[in-house]
Amino acid sequence: MEQVFNFNKELSGKIALVTGGTKGTGKAIAERLLNAGATVIITARNTPETANDELHFISADLSTSTGTEKVVEEVLAKYGRLDILINNLGGSETKGGGFSVLTDEAWEHSIQTNLLAPVRLDRGFLPKMLEQKSGVIIHIASIQGKLPLYDSTLPYAAAKAGLINYSKGLSNEVSPKGVRVLTVSPGWIMTTSAEKMMERIAESSNTTKEQATQSVMDALGGIPIGRPAQPKEVAELIGFLVSPKANYLTGTTFVIDGGTIPTI
Ligand SMILES: NC(=O)c1ccc[n+]([C@@H]2O[C@H](COP(=O)([O-])OP(=O)(O)OC[C@H]3O[C@@H](n4cnc5c(N)ncnc54)[C@H](OP(=O)(O)O)[C@@H]3O)[C@@H](O)[C@H]2O)c1
Repeated sequence: MEQVFNFNKELSGKIALVTGGTKGTGKAIAERLLNAGATVIITARNTPETANDELHFISADLSTSTGTEKVVEEVLAKYGRLDILINNLGGSETKGGGFSVLTDEAWEHSIQTNLLAPVRLDRGFLPKMLEQKSGVIIHIASIQGKLPLYDSTLPYAAAKAGLINYSKGLSNEVSPKGVRVLTVSPGWIMTTSAEKMMERIAESSNTTKEQATQSVMDALGGIPIGRPAQPKEVAELIGFLVSPKANYLTGTTFVIDGGTIPTI
């Protein structure tokens, strides 16, 4: 029978969690899911600067197992289940200088944040999803999982490559039991932090913000669309992927990069 979708509130009744949902891409994803009618929980270490009372906030450091356990326990205690898990948290804090300046601590921090946080959260929420025979898990990776930049983000790129591989394996295990698992690999996203970084680069190199943005795009080998993504554009893709319209999608990676990856 043909399915009929309610395009406006197609996630109503669903419980969704967005990690790193207070800023940047995570904030845009949380708002997109809220607009589609979901009950949305967000996590971060710090309370959001601008409070949205409709978003339920849990404070936790997800680079530790204590932090991920806290989030799983609080969500399940309050809502009894989770339908949509967006593993959005991620990023790189390692310094430039190539392989020789990267310590074990730098590697470990990147792997904890970008790979082990999603692994631990999935492990915490999957039993309930499997019990209800439904759920969607999204892993936000990066084009660096396929296109690593070696100067300052080697551990990040390796962790994201691991995340893409893990996501596929997990999908093979749980899709037959009703849970869809997908990866989204964005290219450069112009978040508020990225905007501020462009302003800093422009100031320190005595150029304009536009020139600073162009220099980053050049370093990426160019972006055929000519600009970074807006967080809302990534959120729109995720809004679709977690919706019933995407019920046949699992075990695959969606690249959203304005054409940055130059190969097929
Ligand atoms: N921005 C890009 O150009 C780009 C490109 C490709 C892929 N991505 C991926 O897209 C995702 C979102 O990136 P973004 O740039 O939008 O992020 P962002 O703007 O830097 O925001 C990061 C969010 O994560 C939280 N966070 C950071 N460390 C945390 C920790 N240890 N425990 C709990 N929460 C933590 C932050 O809040 P607190 O600081 O308060 O904890 C914030 O809410 C990441 O997976 C990233 O790798 C981004």
